[in-house]
Amino acid sequence: MSESTGPRPALDLEAFPASFAWGTATSAYQIEGAVAEDGRAPSIWDTFSRVPGAIDNGDHGDTACDHYHRWPEDIALMKELGTDTYRLSVAWPRVVPGGDGPVNKAGLDFYDRLVDGLLDAGITPSVTLYHWDLPQALQDRGGWTVRETAEHLAAYTTAVAERLGDRVTRWATLNEPLCSGWIGHLEGRMAPGLTDLTAAVRASYHLLLGHGLATQALRAAAPGARIGLVTNHSTVAPASDRPEDLAAAARMDGHTNRWWLDPVYGRGFPADMRELYGVELPERPGDAELIAAPLDWHGLNYYFPVTVADDPEGPVPYAREVRLPDVPRSGMDWQIDAGGLEALLLRLTEDYGVRELYVTENGSAFPDTVGPDGAVHDPERTGYLEQHLAACARAVRKGVPLAGYYAWSLLDNFEWAYGYDKRFGLVHVDYATQKRTVKTSGRRYADVIRAHREATAG
Ligand code: FCB
Repeated sequence: MSESTGPRPALDLEAFPASFAWGTATSAYQIEGAVAEDGRAPSIWDTFSRVPGAIDNGDHGDTACDHYHRWPEDIALMKELGTDTYRLSVAWPRVVPGGDGPVNKAGLDFYDRLVDGLLDAGITPSVTLYHWDLPQALQDRGGWTVRETAEHLAAYTTAVAERLGDRVTRWATLNEPLCSGWIGHLEGRMAPGLTDLTAAVRASYHLLLGHGLATQALRAAAPGARIGLVTNHSTVAPASDRPEDLAAAARMDGHTNRWWLDPVYGRGFPADMRELYGVELPERPGDAELIAAPLDWHGLNYYFPVTVADDPEGPVPYAREVRLPDVPRSGMDWQIDAGGLEALLLRLTEDYGVRELYVTENGSAFPDTVGPDGAVHDPERTGYLEQHLAACARAVRKGVPLAGYYAWSLLDNFEWAYGYDKRFGLVHVDYATQKRTVKTSGRRYADVIRAHREATAG
């Protein structure tokens, strides 16, 4: 890449092992478009994005970044950045449009081409099976609130693994089940848009059961698979040292972190949270072992920390988020705190015993514009990237087995309920023309990757 970003604050790149994987991440519905092509059926996001008021500006993913047609250009961008790996998700409604039943060969053909294209470019694919785009046909039969959906996830996983498992080794079952469970079924801000605690708790259970069943399916269909789960977390601080606020922080930690990690790491669903939710879990003998099936790696998505105060009258978990004054914030209005990333990496290592970790998403949105020189200068995103890479380096120095980092995102894309206004890309997308422009942050990332290779070569 010709333009260099020049001298920058020193990053401790030698902390990262020579084998460290530098990547970017995306997900199917956010970039692909082509929602009605080659046999794809609607997902819950096609439906949700048509609900008046659900998505800012009435945006939807019908065209998105048109990646379905432009993937060769997007792989060329990855090469330009010099990344080793790319985290993508497969769209269930392309592969099994009815949710269960017949497999759509044309849908799998797309991912077959994409995987071959990545491998030809020397880029290792990391494939996530479920990044929120449940086939609408399954939602119509109860979605994640019913057990069958977990079983259908496993059958779909088998179809994908049988087709791609000879070339893909890095697999994740779910992306951020917290968002599917809590934001989709309790807060209603994401598909399917429910606000029902019972539905949410049942969905959370079936999502983790689906993770266990999909892990089993992957082990059977792709013996070389290295399998992980991608979860998102926040550090949780109490707004004061009042006992009520300390208890609220413990509840929020249970809701955001322990509920999603304890069962996966063999501790079962936390008793305090079961009691708080007061919803009977649809447990069956053998489920706990399936959910806790041994994994090869864990993926952490990290964006922001939270501070909470007691809120007895508020919604579950009765902890109200407090907006701290005078702290740096991104264009999402999320607090920026790289220390949270370091703390969560340490917690996964020390408390949960994870032996191999990836940061599977981390990044920031800011309102970028293309300058008169045709460039996109994004010093705030560049700063966010540098601070969080520095946090990763500190964590590695403290013994965290961090194997790679995926920047969210390769491209500006459809940011769910926020539509296209929130731009997370290292590469800017002009949605009117589909022109891609590498931002300054992307150039900085390329420089970091190159410098790390030089520092650890030989
Ligand atoms: C995560 C999602 C990802 C993206 C980022 C900003 O919660 O996994 O798809 O939207 O947030």
